[in-house]
Amino acid sequence: MKTHFKTFLLLFVVLSCVETVLATSESFSEELLIKPLPTGHVYSFFQFTTKWDVDPEETKLRHYNLFPTSVGEIIQKHSLRELHLSLTQSLWRTQKWGYPVRFAGPGAEVFATFYPHLNNDEIDSAWIGLVNSLSGLFCSSFNFVTLTNTIQPLWTFSPEGLNLGGTNASHQRYANLPREIVCTENLTPWKKLLPCESHSGLGELLNAKNMYDSNYHSLALDLRPICRDKKCQETSLELKLSLSLVSEPTVLHGNTYHGINADWSFKSIYGAHLFSSCPRAQVSKVYIDITSNLTSSTHWKLRPDPTAIFINQRGGSATHLALYDLNAVSSWPINVQASYTKKLTYGNVPPPLIHATRFVGGHGQAKGKLVTRIHNNYFSSDIDIVFLELVPWYCRVFLHTLTFRNSKNKPVGIDIPQKLYFRPGLDRQRPHHLELRLTLPADSVTEIEWEFQKGFLKWTEYPPDAHRGFDLGPAVISALLPVARNWTGTPRHVSTFDQRLVVKESSGAGGGGGFISKLKSLLGKTSTSPPEETEAKEEDSRSKKDN
Ligand SMILES: *[C@@H]1O[C@H](CO)[C@@H](O)[C@H](O)[C@H]1NC(C)=O
Ligand SMILES: *[C@@H]1O[C@H](CO)[C@@H](O)[C@H](O)[C@H]1NC(C)=O
Ligand SMILES: *[C@@H]1O[C@H](CO)[C@@H](O)[C@H](O)[C@H]1NC(C)=O
Repeated sequence: MKTHFKTFLLLFVVLSCVETVLATSESFSEELLIKPLPTGHVYSFFQFTTKWDVDPEETKLRHYNLFPTSVGEIIQKHSLRELHLSLTQSLWRTQKWGYPVRFAGPGAEVFATFYPHLNNDEIDSAWIGLVNSLSGLFCSSFNFVTLTNTIQPLWTFSPEGLNLGGTNASHQRYANLPREIVCTENLTPWKKLLPCESHSGLGELLNAKNMYDSNYHSLALDLRPICRDKKCQETSLELKLSLSLVSEPTVLHGNTYHGINADWSFKSIYGAHLFSSCPRAQVSKVYIDITSNLTSSTHWKLRPDPTAIFINQRGGSATHLALYDLNAVSSWPINVQASYTKKLTYGNVPPPLIHATRFVGGHGQAKGKLVTRIHNNYFSSDIDIVFLELVPWYCRVFLHTLTFRNSKNKPVGIDIPQKLYFRPGLDRQRPHHLELRLTLPADSVTEIEWEFQKGFLKWTEYPPDAHRGFDLGPAVISALLPVARNWTGTPRHVSTFDQRLVVKESSGAGGGGGFISKLKSLLGKTSTSPPEETEAKEEDSRSKKDN
C-alpha cells in the first residue's frame, strides 16, 4: 500500500513539472497572404511566426516545444540578439510589382546584431562562427562570408525588434553573397524548422517543384526581441520564417493572343490542395488581397466563399482583404480558386514611390563605373534616403569620382562629411563601404555614379566559371515614405497579419505616417576578363513602418 502511495506521489510531482514547463508559453501562427499583381503574376507570402516568452539574455534556453532547438542553440552559442537572413532566387521587380512584405537582395544575405558586452574581436569571431553554423543549418554557402566581405553598417540597418539598448554599429555585421544559388537543398532544412514541417497546415503547399518553377522566390528567417505584452516590461523572442513566391499562372493557360487568362488556384500555383491546418498553430489564416477587384475594371471571383472581408486603412491607402480562417473550415480539402470574368489586359502600371535600377558603365578591361538610378515618383515632396553600397575589394572604387546628377537639374542635397561615411577597402582584407544620406528632389530621377578599377587577381581567386564575370551585391536604399502606396508589409510593432488587422485603427497614419522602405538594387555582372556586359538589373525594396 505504501509503495503504491509513493508511486502516486511521484507521478503527481512529475506531472506538475510538465505543467510548469508548458507554462513558459510559446505560441505559433501560420499565415499566407496572396496578392494578384497588376502584371497577372500572383504573389504569395507564407509567414510562420513563433513567439516564445523567455528572455534569452537571462535564461538558459531549454524545454523547446515549438521553437526550433537548432535556432535556439545558435542564439546562445553566438550571443545573438537579432538575426535576419534570406536566400533569394531572381529579382523582385519593384517597378511592376510594388513593394513586397519582406525585402531581400538576390542570393544570400545575412545581418546580425550581437550582445553589447562583446568587444570587437569577440564579435568578429562570433560572426564567423555564426555564418558557419548557418551554412550547416541551411545547407548553403554562408561559410563564404568572411571578414573580406563583411561590413558594420552605420545608418542603414538598425535593430528591428525592441530596442534593448547598449548596441551601436560596432555590434552589427552585414554581408551578402549575390552568387548564391537557392534550391531544394535549402528548402528542405528550412521546412524542418516549422512545428508541423510539411505534414499539415500551410507547409503542405510548399512543394519544391512549384517553388523552383516560379519567377521569384525567397526564403527568410528573422529573429528579434519583442515586447511580451502591451505594458512591455518583459521581452519575448520572435522567430519568423517566411517564404515569398511570385508565380505566373498566365503561362499555364497557353495562348495569350486575346489577352491573358489570369485565373489561379492553390492547385495551379502550389501544385496541391490544402488538406488541414497545423494543429499546433493558434492562428491559421489565408488572406487574399482583393483590392484590384475593386479598383480596376477586371473583376474576379473567389471560390469557396471567404470567411470574412476586411478593409485595412493605413497611410492614405486602403487594402481590401478576403480572409479564410483555416480553423473554421468545415470541409477539407480546400482549393481556393480565383476566376476572372474576362481576359486580363494591362498597360502601364503606375510605379511605386521609389524604385531604382543599376548598371555598370564604361569600356575597356581595366576600368568601369557603377551607376545607380533612383526614381522619386512622388510629385509633392522631396524624399530623404540612406544609400548603402558594399563593393568587394577587387573593384577599387574612388571616392573623388563620386558624382550626383538629377534629371531636372535640381541640386541633390548632400553635405559631406556629416552625411557621408566611407571606409575604403583593403586588398584581401575588407570591402569598400559607402553610406550616404541624401535628399531626392520630388518627381525626378537621381543618378549616383562612381568609377572603379579592377584589381589584379591571382588565378586561384577567380570563381568557378570565371568567364561569367563577377556578381556585385545589392545596394540598399532606405527611405521614409510619405504614403503607404504599393506597400504590403506589417508595421514594426506587430508580429502577424492577424494583429495588423486588429490594430488597424490605432496605427492608421493618415497620409503623414512614415514608412521606411529599403530598396535594394542588384548590379548585374561586372567581369574582369571578358568585356563588360552592361546589363541593367532591377531592384527590390523593403518597407517598414517607422514608429
Ligand atoms: C501602386 O498603387 C497604385 C494605386 O494604389 C496602383 O494603381 C498601382 O497599380 C500600384 N503599382 C504597383 C506596381 O503595384
Ligand atoms: C559603441 O559601443 C562601444 C562599446 O559598447 C564603444 O566602445 C564605442 O565607442 C561605441 N561606438 C560609437 C560610435 O558610439
Ligand atoms: C469582385 O467584384 C464583383 C463585382 O463587384 C463581385 O461580384 C465579386 O464577388 C468580387 N470578388 C471578390 C473576390 O471579392
